[in-house]
Amino acid sequence: MNQRIVLITGASSGIGEEIAKQLVMRGDFPILLARNRTALQNFKEIYPNCAIFPCDVTHQTEIDQLIPQIIQQFGRVDVLINNAGYGRFGHFLDISIEDYEGMMNTNYLGAVRMIHATLPYMLKQGGGRIINISSIAGLIGSPNLAAYSASKFALMGLSESLHMEFSPTIQVGILCPGPVQTPFFGGNKLTQYFPPLIARQQMDPQTVAKHAIKLIDQPRLKVIPFPLRLALTLRKFAPNVFFHITKKIYRSL
Ligand SMILES: NC(=O)c1ccc[n+]([C@@H]2O[C@H](COP(=O)([O-])OP(=O)(O)OC[C@H]3O[C@@H](n4cnc5c(N)ncnc54)[C@H](OP(=O)(O)O)[C@@H]3O)[C@@H](O)[C@H]2O)c1
Repeated sequence: MNQRIVLITGASSGIGEEIAKQLVMRGDFPILLARNRTALQNFKEIYPNCAIFPCDVTHQTEIDQLIPQIIQQFGRVDVLINNAGYGRFGHFLDISIEDYEGMMNTNYLGAVRMIHATLPYMLKQGGGRIINISSIAGLIGSPNLAAYSASKFALMGLSESLHMEFSPTIQVGILCPGPVQTPFFGGNKLTQYFPPLIARQQMDPQTVAKHAIKLIDQPRLKVIPFPLRLALTLRKFAPNVFFHITKKIYRSL
């Protein structure tokens, strides 16, 4: 098989599904993982040039069995995209301890489990790419996002460390979008959690998927879509001004 084999977690919906679609369109071979079998089967009916496997990234034994099975069937994994994730938003005390644990377990440890199982094969085959779908919340904390943000900061630390440990053999990339139009917010209005200034920056999943795929073709450590880079620059060079403005913007919620 000459196509690039790309393993994507959380591919039953939103950004992951869109990445899978665009990969099929350009002739790569995505392997879609998620818990929702029906959504995966529906995808395969429309786009047969892919493989699907039900997988919960919080279940270590499932991953331990699945990755060797995939290697046996397809010979290798060229790219691993850790995209599975969920978010619960609201004031610090309104988020249950189960969700603090759940977001770490899915958004951070889910990626750790997948990398731990896949990396030895990538090293053995002489190279590979790992792309972690983080968030701007993995670089900047903000009100209503404490639990989610912490899980994405963890993913950021993991990614930077892996980059230093394994590049250039293994290229690690992190994508940090702001809000994206997907089922992620479960039908809740963005303005419930974000001030209008931030809610208005919502990106479409097609653009985010393009950024992710570009990381396969042109490896870079970190991709932060444009308007968010301005906020990060302000935070870096004038943190007190940044925190003052952010606090003021969020006060309306
Ligand atoms: N939407 C945004 O505003 C936004 C912004 C920045 C970053 N992100 C990040 O982008 C990624 C994708 O989110 P999305 O916006 O596309 O949301 P989404 O449409 O809700 O998709 C989330 C995906 O993650 C999968 N998933 C969740 N828990 C899982 C688990 N335990 N095991 C395996 N798969 C699991 C879901 O599939 P199943 O339910 O079928 O398992 C689904 O396919 C997430 O990591 C999210 O944090 C999103």
